[in-house]
Amino acid sequence: MSKENSKRDILVTNALPYANGPLHIGHLLEHIQSDIWVRYQRLIGNNCTYICGEDAHGTAIMLKAEENKLSPEELIEQVKISHMEDFLAFNISHDNYHTTHSEENRFFSEIIFTRLKEKGFIEEREIEQLFDTERQIFLSDRYVKGTCPSCGAEDQYGDNCEICSSTYSATDLIDPISVITETKPEIKKSSHLFFKLSDLKSEIKDWLDNALVPRQALNKLSEWIDGDLKDWNISRDEPYFGFKIPGYPGKYFYVWLDAPIGYLASHKNYLDKLHKAEDFDLYWGIDSKAELYHFIGKDIMYFHALFFPAMLLKSDFRQPSGVFIHGFLTVDGQKMSKSRGTFILASTYREILDPVYLRYYFAAKLGTGVDDIDLNLEDFCQRANSDLVGKFINIGSRTAKFINENFKNKLSKTVHNEALINEFIDRSSVISEAYENREFNKAIREIMFLADKANRYIDKMEPWVLFKDKKNKELVQSVCTTSLNLFRLMAIMLSPVIPTLSEKIYLFLNIKFPQWNDMNKILLNHEIGVYKPLLTRIEMDKIEKIREKSKEL
Ligand code: 2FM
Ligand code: ZN
Repeated sequence: MSKENSKRDILVTNALPYANGPLHIGHLLEHIQSDIWVRYQRLIGNNCTYICGEDAHGTAIMLKAEENKLSPEELIEQVKISHMEDFLAFNISHDNYHTTHSEENRFFSEIIFTRLKEKGFIEEREIEQLFDTERQIFLSDRYVKGTCPSCGAEDQYGDNCEICSSTYSATDLIDPISVITETKPEIKKSSHLFFKLSDLKSEIKDWLDNALVPRQALNKLSEWIDGDLKDWNISRDEPYFGFKIPGYPGKYFYVWLDAPIGYLASHKNYLDKLHKAEDFDLYWGIDSKAELYHFIGKDIMYFHALFFPAMLLKSDFRQPSGVFIHGFLTVDGQKMSKSRGTFILASTYREILDPVYLRYYFAAKLGTGVDDIDLNLEDFCQRANSDLVGKFINIGSRTAKFINENFKNKLSKTVHNEALINEFIDRSSVISEAYENREFNKAIREIMFLADKANRYIDKMEPWVLFKDKKNKELVQSVCTTSLNLFRLMAIMLSPVIPTLSEKIYLFLNIKFPQWNDMNKILLNHEIGVYKPLLTRIEMDKIEKIREKSKEL
């Protein structure tokens, strides 16, 4: 916890990726979005902790492990390692990466369940479900297919029809078939535990009235609350990979019960490693003054903006300060597709291209809305090349060589255009506000506007022409010093988005990693390093390579 009053204590989470397969660029959209925000918060001096981990339970993971002839524990460990490698390569700066299959998570899942039960929010009921007699397993909606009872469309899942959009119970499907064994399931009774969400409508509304949730999502959430908000089945029958429910033999917590509790578990695990266990209540206690934000996709807002806040409220933990919801990622205007070569794995991308381009492109597209974001591969290439290489890096590469070759790497004692530098510094407050509000597209627009200005200044001053006349020597030095100061300011402004590139620039400028406030200083009479090319243009054949490799999946 921060001891300084002016510093905000912020805890940020990402949706925990399922531990049953590799990360793709859709995952990266969210992690890059939150990482930019976290890096910005740290840059302005806030105390921002960023946690994540694997979502390791459930039927899908159990079946996947069986398919791969592994134990679920082996599978989730292997997948965790591959996820962590990808996150590292994309510079996602999680402070802790844990797993829901952990003792901390068992502890909090049990505590939350027990408290909900003590307060009368858990009810046991008998329900009918489809049961695969061959595999001896109850079938969740994803594991059963059949004919839609409303429109007669064949091959529909157990919860809703993709053709007519009607929702129904799996037991209503006509001619149901188990996806696991392709046999006809039976209807079987079993007793289950329900969280009485329908009793908590007004509490959820109260929370929504005060939390930061995108306006576009609020309409949908209110519809759910005002509509038929059903009690939530939080138990599953064995065989299941998860935590046993204390006092209910053969029953396990449903993966979606313990997944968000994984946020508490990962944070606890982090604080224990830091020997700061006492901070836990300062973040998660009812009276916490810290801010808690979850970055998620719109497909899981049901869990994060209805179930989780209700669970926390009735188990005496604080509720989230906000849930930041993004849309889905499309590639070339369509859902990612293996046959089109647009189902791009994080590992495929990073083997071929520097993550810096993707971080930049996503930032340029991301705002606060929940609309889908399109990665158009040609536009990506063109935008990264023209903005990052053509505009931004160009400011350094056009002017550094004069300082390196003619002034023994030394910047001048005064700048030629202090007003321009001050204009950039003044503009940083608008950029700061855009970052704070997660309007990264606006921040990028503003920064590129400044890049154009800097380039116009260099075009106008033409140091390469001035240099031809000896009497202009000092002027060339102070023009290039002005330009390199503008370059430095932009590197700081862009550092939440492209941290590795900014670091290379700091190294070249021979300065320590700056904070946002350091923008107020001007670098004068300072020895810089020797400029080396910092970033090259993306060639279109690299994009073709990514497509080809993605088709091989
Ligand atoms: O939708 C998903 O990918 C889930 N694994 C997200 C879980 S988020 C949190 F609740 F753990
Ligand atoms: Zn239908």
